[in-house]
Amino acid sequence: TPVVLTTVAEVQNALAAVRAGSPASGIALVPTMGALHDGHLSLVRRARELAGTVIVSIFVNPLQFGAGEDLDAYPRTLDADLAALAAEGVEYVFAPTAREMYPNGPSETRVTAGHVGTLLEGATRPGHFDGMLTVVAKLFNIVRPDVAMFGQKDAQQVFLVRRMVAELNLPLVIEVVPTVRESDGLALSSRNRFLDAGARRAALALSGALQSADAAASDGLVELLAEATASFGDHDDVTLDYLVVVDPASFLPVDEHFRGPAIALVAARVGATRLIDNTPIILG
Ligand code: PAJ
Repeated sequence: TPVVLTTVAEVQNALAAVRAGSPASGIALVPTMGALHDGHLSLVRRARELAGTVIVSIFVNPLQFGAGEDLDAYPRTLDADLAALAAEGVEYVFAPTAREMYPNGPSETRVTAGHVGTLLEGATRPGHFDGMLTVVAKLFNIVRPDVAMFGQKDAQQVFLVRRMVAELNLPLVIEVVPTVRESDGLALSSRNRFLDAGARRAALALSGALQSADAAASDGLVELLAEATASFGDHDDVTLDYLVVVDPASFLPVDEHFRGPAIALVAARVGATRLIDNTPIILG
């Protein structure tokens, strides 16, 4: 079973001993909000390959939830999480309280995600990405990992974390892991447990639209959006938030002249549950 650390001082002491004992073996951080599933565990497995010591943080970060979002309802399953991480041979879990992370209340100092932080997920969730980058920066400074793992599932988060690391010269490597899916295509998410059988079927609208987008990508953006939107319309009980294609270099929506590697992104509400998904494509 992993050693569970709950304070910043405990993390710093434990990892100082690791660094003194085996300076070259490396420390990998996997930041999570818990309710772990196979997507999270694929990040853990990649971390295990890259570093001698793996530390998983489990912290439902209030700073990245807006008023009226699911902070209180967010699933918390620490015992099951620890059992799953034990099976992966994880050495340490950092599971702080909100008071430990934000002793003075929500921190006044924030990392700002800039314009891209106001688009797509940021348009629906104002302040989300500032809160996310702020806690990620704190975790990097507390753990001082050599490498930190992120999932492609949250493509906008990956873009913003990579840009923060580059623009602030943070001394670590970001490793991105492909999206893990159910056999029918649904991307694994901690929020999938809120879906009943009907909503679970409706949720296939997201991965289905992305498959249509991929199939139409060689015909260009206009055709792609038409096909993907039409495929989405085949599903009941799901409300589209956005379906867009962005340039991976800027994370800004592309126009119909764009050619080459891009990312198709979709967000939708299924009942009360908001889901996101994306896939890399090549626009022809
Ligand atoms: P959380 O939603 O718990 O996700 C933790 C990590 O797991 C993220 O990097 C996410 O992209 C990855 N992940 C989730 N589902 C995945 C899937 N199906 N396949 C591959 N990877 C997947 O993202 C957060 O937490 C928070 O914003 C956090 C970075 C921890 C900051 O609070």
